[in-house]
Amino acid sequence: MLRAKRLTAQQVVALWREFYEAHGPEVMRAAYGWTSPEARPIRRGERVWAFYDQDDRDACIGWGACYLSLDDPEDVEATLVVGVFPAYQRRGFRRQILDWMSEWAKAKGAEYARLVVFAENEANHARHHREADDPANPWVWAGDVWFPAAYSIFMRDLRDPRDLDGQSEAAETAEATEVAEAAE
Ligand SMILES: CC(C)(COP(=O)(O)OP(=O)(O)OC[C@H]1O[C@@H](n2cnc3c(N)ncnc32)[C@H](O)[C@@H]1OP(=O)(O)O)[C@@H](O)C(=O)NCCC(=O)NCCS
Repeated sequence: MLRAKRLTAQQVVALWREFYEAHGPEVMRAAYGWTSPEARPIRRGERVWAFYDQDDRDACIGWGACYLSLDDPEDVEATLVVGVFPAYQRRGFRRQILDWMSEWAKAKGAEYARLVVFAENEANHARHHREADDPANPWVWAGDVWFPAAYSIFMRDLRDPRDLDGQSEAAETAEATEVAEAAE
């Protein structure tokens, strides 16, 4: 089980620097197009969470970012980005983080979640395509873009009643942030 912590912009910068150093410049450029630890600005309307293991509360597993404009009723597509620290790879955390953010976005009114996977990130690119071939997988291959960078787009239909139950901690967090942000 994961525990999510919403980060401030300052905390995001520190976490992404640590993450960049943990994976190294080559992986980071191929995976996200980042050319330095500071290359990635936080977009307006983007939220970033750090994820921790319930059983090891101090250990940061990875992070997730979700861009969804909550001021624009026509924005019903949440764009997700995910990263898992090397020490926690290959344990299924990527899926758990994506599920958590999908649930969060759904609770906020999003109808679709969107994921971009660069072709240069070969193992992950192949993995997402392989998973999309499985009809039980909620992420569907939605097409490729070739220029200026080659990447595949995967979409998840958050309205699908067979997917996500709306009962998770993410849905509760979505409600709680509403209250906290209104109070700010
Ligand atoms: C890519 C990334 C997010 C994947 O995270 P992850 O949590 O390791 O992903 P998963 O655990 O779902 O899957 C990785 C592999 O471990 C396997 N796996 C998952 N749970 C497992 C378990 N309990 N035991 C053994 N293997 C397991 C998966 O089947 C998958 O196998 P594959 O390589 O044959 O496809 C992470 O490696 C990362 O952040 N990498 C650097 C940056 C990056 O590429 N980011 C993604 C940008 S789109």
